[in-house]
Amino acid sequence: MIVAITGTPGTGKSSICSVLGRRGYFIVDLDQEARAGGFIVGRDESRGADEVDVEGLRNHLLIPAKIAFLKGHYSHLMDVNLAIVLRCRPSVLRKRLQERGWPDSKIQENVEAEAIDSILQEAVARLDLVYEIDTTERTAESTAAGVLEILQGRTKGHAPGSVDWSHEVLSWY
Ligand SMILES: Nc1ncnc2c1ncn2[C@@H]1O[C@H](COP(=O)(O)OP(=O)(O)OP(=O)(O)O)[C@@H](O)[C@H]1O
Ligand SMILES: [Mg+2]
Repeated sequence: MIVAITGTPGTGKSSICSVLGRRGYFIVDLDQEARAGGFIVGRDESRGADEVDVEGLRNHLLIPAKIAFLKGHYSHLMDVNLAIVLRCRPSVLRKRLQERGWPDSKIQENVEAEAIDSILQEAVARLDLVYEIDTTERTAESTAAGVLEILQGRTKGHAPGSVDWSHEVLSWY
């Protein structure tokens, strides 16, 4: 069972995977794998982000464990059995990203991507099993527990579409 932990930057992939890692689960950091395998093919300076050869990485990736969590905002584009999309209310995500000192343009791009369910849509377009967890009002520990509950089949309230930021987005206009 290979599980993608995905989501817009700042939704908590690293925080949740560090909790899962402490509990003994096998975590694959895709940015690290991409760097080590030579799959960083460029740098988008305007967005302040590395460009990853996602297809190359997907073909190269060998997971030496029966249960593993793949961490990264493109993990739902790997060969996974299931994806869990971490979500965060856009106004709260903006604060989380501001705390990182990111440029306004990069913050805006990511807040908008979150607002329009970008990663969720990408995931449901290619995977049968996709669930989402709203991290806005939860701790990393509680979100990690939620991930494990979903794997145990307790998926109620986590179906794609259960998170809806449209009300907040409409308030921007
Ligand atoms: N419920 C929560 N789950 C996860 N992170 C939370 C939560 N509540 C607050 N946070 C905070 O939000 C931030 C999430 O950052 P984190 O680095 O885990 O995100 P990420 O998804 O890995 O981002 P990136 O794609 O840039 O690596 C942290 O500062 C964390 O403390
Ligand atoms: Mg991270």
